Amino acid sequence: MIYIAEIAKTLGKIAPLPQSELEALISPTPAPDLGDFSFPCFRLSKQLKKSPAQIASDFADALEADKPGFIEKIQAVSGYLNFYLNREACARDILGAIIAKGDSYGSSDIGNGKTITIDYSSPNIAKHFHVGHLVTTILGHALYNILKFLGYNAVGINYLGDWGTQFGKLITAYKHWGNRADIEERNIDGLTDLYVRFHKEAESDGSLNDEARAWLLKMQEGDSEALDIWKWFCDISMIEYQRIYKRLGIEFESYRGESYYRDKWDAVVAELREKNLLVKSEGAMIVDLTGYKMPPCLILRSDGGSLYATRDIATALDRKQTYGFYKSLYVTGLEQNLYFAQWMKVIELMGYDWAEDLIHIPYGMFIFEEGKLSTRRGNVIKMEDLLNEAVYRALAIVEEKNPGLPDKEAVAGQVGVGAVIFNQLYNNRIKDVSFSWDRILSFDGETGPYVQYTTARANSVLEKTPDDIKDIEIDYSLLCDEYAYETIKLLDVFPDRVLEAAGKYEPYVISRYLVSLSQAFNKFYHNNTILSGDKKLCAARCALTRCVRDVLSRGLGLLGISAPEKM
Ligand code: ARG
Repeated sequence: MIYIAEIAKTLGKIAPLPQSELEALISPTPAPDLGDFSFPCFRLSKQLKKSPAQIASDFADALEADKPGFIEKIQAVSGYLNFYLNREACARDILGAIIAKGDSYGSSDIGNGKTITIDYSSPNIAKHFHVGHLVTTILGHALYNILKFLGYNAVGINYLGDWGTQFGKLITAYKHWGNRADIEERNIDGLTDLYVRFHKEAESDGSLNDEARAWLLKMQEGDSEALDIWKWFCDISMIEYQRIYKRLGIEFESYRGESYYRDKWDAVVAELREKNLLVKSEGAMIVDLTGYKMPPCLILRSDGGSLYATRDIATALDRKQTYGFYKSLYVTGLEQNLYFAQWMKVIELMGYDWAEDLIHIPYGMFIFEEGKLSTRRGNVIKMEDLLNEAVYRALAIVEEKNPGLPDKEAVAGQVGVGAVIFNQLYNNRIKDVSFSWDRILSFDGETGPYVQYTTARANSVLEKTPDDIKDIEIDYSLLCDEYAYETIKLLDVFPDRVLEAAGKYEPYVISRYLVSLSQAFNKFYHNNTILSGDKKLCAARCALTRCVRDVLSRGLGLLGISAPEKM
């Protein structure tokens, strides 16, 4: 939005306000018949002792005479000064910049030299990757992509839930009733069965719980048999997780889970004790947070075992040392709000000023509205089942819409997965997200498939472009109709939207933007013949189409969605 600064400069010649204030007051108009940008004159009324309407009309008269080339017209309307830009100049400036910047359009170097760790996804070993981890995975990945695009050294960390009492129970169950071949074949299903069996049998046989505690103790003491079995459970679980990450195009810089920090918990406890923060309470050790209107943060169980918070504190200290992060993000559900506030407060009380750089990014719930994968029956929905169903349904739609399309399975894969991701990232993250197959897969709603379809449409136009227009110089005066102009203005704000999304940790800013850009382009497409017989016209319209296609596919990419070339 270079124009706001330029308009402010022009206004600065007569309006008695500093440039920065002028810039803050100028905003895009709500409707095209009011021009492009407007400046409200109300603030100046007192100072200039004139009505806003009078000021607007005086300013308009004064500026009209020698306005810069990019301004077409200045009009005073009920206390506002409306600026109409010169469409040809805008088209040249904006498309010219996009073409010149190529792949880097929208990116930035504001993050250069700054590391941001992003703790996300983090499923719990020996359990299926269920939809409870869907949001953190999708949201964390989008934030990762966006921050990277802005030049930050983004470090994706999968803080696997790979330590704790459940492993003592699992090893016990495996020793009693387990069968190696069965688990190797059925993977997590086999482990889940063992876990369920343990709880059932432990109801009548209390000694099993003692055994489980003993196995956990062995793990903690480094017993090789215990650790071998535990490691094997981890490896088995990772097979399923990796399949999912691959489908989602996600790679992590680090898979250091809770277990990695197990030799660092004692030091944390010692440090808390030394800093006089530990208090005994009902046999456990806690940090009292009454002064901060929070319940205590639990550090040690009565049996001396570490807790979730102890591990997170040790992990944060270690990450600060390892990465020297500028910010450290944690993407989890809203229900962990208090928990994160508690242990982050403890870090602050320990005297670390970087506690303020620890940022919890909470999100709302994922709610199913209907269908085979209903949550109403109370069973957990596996992420893989959800993705498979999405792809299966996308394939049916693709078959119906475009039976001759080559590589339909691959396209359905992109569309199905893209629909799930886009739906998840379409609202403020704190809002609960409802999920209905028909809505998320619709090709003409505010959906992933709609944006993908628009991208593919632009692409297919470009594929049909005759070779001989490629060297024709773009005549920007041919891109001044209202549809082209609206599209070009939207292309201009892409970099601002990326920055806004990063600043708020809200990818929806980008997904909503992509829908607006798609809508504007589709209007342009319906109202203009892009592949016109007039070569100059064709060249200009194709240039715009190429810019739209590139921004749409880059925007989708930031969300973690790939765009099929054809649909
Ligand atoms: N494994 C945890 C869970 O499933 C999420 C971990 C979030 N990250 C963290 N550093 N606590 O709830």
